[in-house]
Amino acid sequence: MSTDDDRDILDDEPQATPAQSVSPPAPNGGAPTTSGGAPRGRASRRSFLIGAAAGAGVGVIAGAGVVSVAGGGLAVGPGGVVRTGPAPRGQAGEPVTGQAISVTVNGLPQDVYVRANETLAEMLREDLGLTGTKIGCNRSECSACTVLLNGVPVNSCSELAIRANGAQIVTIEGLEKDGKLSPVQAAFAKNMGLQCGFCTPGQIMQATALLQRIPNPTDEQIMKHMSGNLCKCSAYPNIMASIREAAKTARA
Ligand code: FES
Ligand code: FES
Repeated sequence: MSTDDDRDILDDEPQATPAQSVSPPAPNGGAPTTSGGAPRGRASRRSFLIGAAAGAGVGVIAGAGVVSVAGGGLAVGPGGVVRTGPAPRGQAGEPVTGQAISVTVNGLPQDVYVRANETLAEMLREDLGLTGTKIGCNRSECSACTVLLNGVPVNSCSELAIRANGAQIVTIEGLEKDGKLSPVQAAFAKNMGLQCGFCTPGQIMQATALLQRIPNPTDEQIMKHMSGNLCKCSAYPNIMASIREAAKTARA
């Protein structure tokens, strides 16, 4: 028998796009975001980032009044915050516009300065050191970078960090509790739901989101929900077995 949740997951794309709920619409209406499982052929990530950065209304700051901070730090100028010094990306010393944002990551409040075009994946990995989130394609095609943004799985490589201001974020590092793996993590380990493991954090985050919505999914629902998460090693049968077992364990 079909339930509302069943219809929801069978009718919708595997991942919703929560960006509008993360921060107020940008002055120019912002830019559409993409996430795992989204239809192919949308605007490229580059055009998406450029458009979204422009929509965020971030101005360029350079020249007089900028206080330099050594070591790739940040400087406060007359119009906001800029990153100066040896930039982690781009040309060293070239001022890059940015903004301070507040996010809660794995239950821990964090204030982070991010570049206007910095992705959520870059912020997690490079600013916060949470390298469990992997970047595969870096263009919203593989979902290796899946994290939960306000409870919704998103491709963090294609979400602007600046638009996550105020959001609750959960990464693979946040699933373990008191030294105990989550049911999905444990099931992946037991069923060898991985080979090289590169796609595994994204698979686990996506499966976690599925079981939060549908505790007892059918195989069809699992396949539909996980369809955007690609595994180059083709560990799909074991991934399916892992999710089935995680569902059983979580219900027990
Ligand atoms: S979808 Fe983000 S790295 Fe592939
Ligand atoms: S386990 Fe290697 S890409 Fe999935």
